[in-house]
Amino acid sequence: MTFMIKVPATTANIGAGFDSIGIALNLYLTLKVKLSDKLEFVHLSEHLNDLPTDESNFIYQIAKKTADRYQVDVLPPCRIEVTSDIPFARGLGSSATAIVAGIELANQLLQLNLTADEKVLLATEIEGHPDNVAPAVLGGCVIGHYDQTVETIHVPINNLTFVTIIPDFELKTKDARAVLPKQLSHSESVKASSIANVSVAAICQQNWPVLGRLVSQDLFHQPYRKQLIPHYDQVEKALIDQVYGLYLSGAGPTMIALASEEQAQKSLAKWKREFPQLKWLTLQAVNQGV
Ligand code: HSE
Repeated sequence: MTFMIKVPATTANIGAGFDSIGIALNLYLTLKVKLSDKLEFVHLSEHLNDLPTDESNFIYQIAKKTADRYQVDVLPPCRIEVTSDIPFARGLGSSATAIVAGIELANQLLQLNLTADEKVLLATEIEGHPDNVAPAVLGGCVIGHYDQTVETIHVPINNLTFVTIIPDFELKTKDARAVLPKQLSHSESVKASSIANVSVAAICQQNWPVLGRLVSQDLFHQPYRKQLIPHYDQVEKALIDQVYGLYLSGAGPTMIALASEEQAQKSLAKWKREFPQLKWLTLQAVNQGV
C-alpha cells in the first residue's frame, strides 16, 4: 500500500478575520507513505532535518490521537517521506498542515472514511481555532466559527495574487498572541467587527479592492503585532499604492500584499531590490484541500 498526502499552506486572519478566516495557498507539506515493517519518517527538505524520525514525530502523534478518537489502537508501521515548502513559525500555517497531515495519515492507514467536516472539527479541536486547519482541509477561503462545534462557509478564490514577504526570523504564535489586549471596549469592538463584516462580504463577492482597503484597518490584532515585525511599516509604505492592500499573515512575521497578477508582475523586481533581506514569493490560492 502506497499513497500520497498533500496539504496546502494557509494564510490566516486576512486582516480582521482574527481566528476565523483563512485561505489555502500553493505551498505544500507532502507525505509519501508506504507500508513497511517499522515506522520511519524520512525528511527530504532541509528545514525538517531536526524533526524526530520515530513515534515522537508530531504528525505521528496526531495520527495516534485520531486513531484513539475512533477507537482503533494500532496504526500499521510505515515509511513516510516528508517534503515541505512551508517555513516554520512564519505565519503560513506549518503546524496546521502537520495536524491535518496526521489526521489524514490515520484516515488513510485505518480506512476511517472521515468526512471533510469530521477532519475540520478534529483539527480545530487540536489547533484551537479553525482559520488555518479548515482551509488546509477544504481548500479556498474558509470563514469559520468554533465553539464546541464548527460552522464553516467555503468560498473559492480566483484572480488574486498573494505577494508573500517572509522575514528571516521565526515568530511563535504563542508570543504573537501574548501581545494582544485582554479586552476591547464596546465602541472598539463595534468598529473592529464592522471592518471584519465588510471584509467577509468583499471575499464573497471577490471584490479585491474593497478587501485590500480593509485588511490594513484591522483592529483585532495587527496594531499590536506590527511592533514585532521590524520592516512592516516600511514595506507597507513602499507597496500600498501599488497593491490592493497589505496584512500580517496569521500571527506573522510574514506579510502578504493582495494584488492583481499585473500589479505583482510590474513591481516585484523593484520591491525585491528595495528589500533584499526579505524573501519574496508570489503565491496563488488553491481551491482544493488535503
Ligand atoms: N489566528 C491565529 C493568530 C493564527 O493570529 O494567532 C495563527 O495560529
